[in-house]
Amino acid sequence: MCVRLIYIQVCLFDLATSTHGLCGTIRITQRIEIACNRLNPAQNQVIPDIVPDPISILLNTSKETNMTTEEEPIAKDAYDKLADTYAQDVENSAYNAHLEFPGTTALIPDVDGKQILDAGCGNGRYTEWLLDHGGEVVAIDVSTEMLTRATERSDGQAEFHQANLGAPLDFATADEFDGIVSGLALDYVQNWHQPFTEFARLLKPGGFFVFSVIHPLDEYNIDGDMNYFEIEQKTKDWEPPVPYYRRPFSAVLSPLLEAGFRIDAITEPQPTDAFKEQRPERFEKESKQPVFLCLRAVRRES
Ligand SMILES: C[S@@+](CC[C@H](N)C(=O)[O-])C[C@H]1O[C@@H](n2cnc3c(N)ncnc32)[C@H](O)[C@@H]1O
Repeated sequence: MCVRLIYIQVCLFDLATSTHGLCGTIRITQRIEIACNRLNPAQNQVIPDIVPDPISILLNTSKETNMTTEEEPIAKDAYDKLADTYAQDVENSAYNAHLEFPGTTALIPDVDGKQILDAGCGNGRYTEWLLDHGGEVVAIDVSTEMLTRATERSDGQAEFHQANLGAPLDFATADEFDGIVSGLALDYVQNWHQPFTEFARLLKPGGFFVFSVIHPLDEYNIDGDMNYFEIEQKTKDWEPPVPYYRRPFSAVLSPLLEAGFRIDAITEPQPTDAFKEQRPERFEKESKQPVFLCLRAVRRES
């Protein structure tokens, strides 16, 4: 039996001033111990309702964590420069096409005729999938260059807005969407209370939120001097380098619960046969170590 122990240790709020005025940067140093006797025998298994309601209440610790904040989009410039390379690579890259994408799309419910927000749309990979499955899509991204490519790709079938996930999403009204999908975009936002509170506002009650992010244990070196419990800024060694945030599990789950979501499914996708064919030298390693985390949450009715 797998017993997970979680307890809330510290919340540290670090307010700073940015060029946008008051910018609340929230660094959460939280350790959570929850007695939870669920089994997770297979790495790729969907675990419905992993966090029961009493724990939602337990984690609903501070009003201040729900305040509206605005943070600089740290990866905008890098993605503006990367747009062409990203567009060429993402469709066929083993990690994107044969690991993260199948893991995430498997969690997306029926979108036919539904209003869906693609949050951090990049060059429109998920926008296209959602349109192909009958969704009516509004897509946002902070990168002008990425938006240009996504707009061309969707051929006028989706609506696009330039928006920062780390700030209020003023382009949309409350209860506008049936679902929100966000593929590998939240890793560039430090404070997830901001986007999750906005997503809860924009979703109808019962609406779904499916997202993928870098797994909290990917690149975490247990033998090094890293502090697992910190949200820390790191850099992807790409050309150009791309800054992102690594965070502990508690910093993935508690902002969701605090914003009014319940957790519906979690997967840690494993490489597919197509991945093995394309990257045989990485197959064994990625079959044993998590790279991405995919999650489906549902906006609570009240
Ligand atoms: C790895 S790409 C993923 C794009 C797309 N969702 C996909 O899966 O192919 C990350 C995207 O997040 C966008 N992004 C980064 N920071 C953002 C922010 N603060 N607000 C909105 N979009 C952001 C980037 O511009 C980029 O297009």
